Amino acid sequence: MPAARPADGGAVRSSDAAAVAAVEVRDLHVRLDGTPILAGVDLTVAAGEWVTVIGPNGAGKSTLLRAVGGLLPASGAVSLFGTPSEALRRRDRARVVATVAQSPVVPAGMSVFDYVLLGRTPYIAPLGRESTADLAAAHEVLDGLDLAGFHDRELATLSGGERQRVFLARALAQGATLLLLDEPISALDIGHQQEVLELVDRLRREHGLTVLATMHDLSIAGEYADRMVLLAEGRVVAAGTPREVLTEQLLATWYRATVRVVDGDHGPLVVPIRPRR
Ligand SMILES: Nc1ncnc2c1ncn2[C@@H]1O[C@H](COP(=O)(O)OP(=O)(O)OP(=O)(O)O)[C@@H](O)[C@H]1O
Ligand SMILES: [Mg+2]
Repeated sequence: MPAARPADGGAVRSSDAAAVAAVEVRDLHVRLDGTPILAGVDLTVAAGEWVTVIGPNGAGKSTLLRAVGGLLPASGAVSLFGTPSEALRRRDRARVVATVAQSPVVPAGMSVFDYVLLGRTPYIAPLGRESTADLAAAHEVLDGLDLAGFHDRELATLSGGERQRVFLARALAQGATLLLLDEPISALDIGHQQEVLELVDRLRREHGLTVLATMHDLSIAGEYADRMVLLAEGRVVAAGTPREVLTEQLLATWYRATVRVVDGDHGPLVVPIRPRR
């Protein structure tokens, strides 16, 4: 799963993916309503890699993911699989990159199945109908995310965690090579957190997907990421393996948090400790 294979057409060929970075960001600057939000960010994500961006509230993580996804005007260079972002046509971009936003808009009156089927839009001809392969892809991702019983439910009536899994289902149904996941597990219970991240990791291994995510749960972030980037005040202040980035000192400096970092089986575990009075 999903039946939707990673995109192989359009402006980006999968053979290029092995040779060039999935994401290459150079000197990225973003201003929103005149306020500088990102100030000179560099970021490289190799094809097949999982990179998680962490950082305190307001650091610019969502802004960075939106800029990588081509959803924001930005100055500097963003390339996806070697193609400058601005050269990608909308339909080609949608086959290459799928985004789960932090707070997606919930369309009124839409069923879960129809919402997930929207992920197949880049494969459906203008004014055309979805194919049986498109329907099968939507069914498959819904099953894989423990949502088989939710097809006909109106999206707006789902619980926060159920809805978050539907947002991810739509992105997976899109069959893109690069997943941009902005806090994809923030509303999920710990069982569903593991289930969802294991599924994403399995898809990464089986289909060679690349993952660029943000997460506030630092222990879980460190267990799944190959590399982490710590963003603060619109800049990259640390980058490296989870062990290099998840240190008591860096977390004290940039989050003003008192934590203990202990060794886990799959990376460091970050335990918040109540500060001494
Ligand atoms: N239109 C805007 N005008 C001015 N500032 C903005 C605008 N949109 C966002 N910002 C600011 O940009 C900063 C970065 O926002 P962003 O959503 O990228 O942060 P984040 O790191 O994702 O935070 P969080 O952990 O809370 O999700 C925030 O301080 C936010 O208030
Ligand atoms: Mg955010």
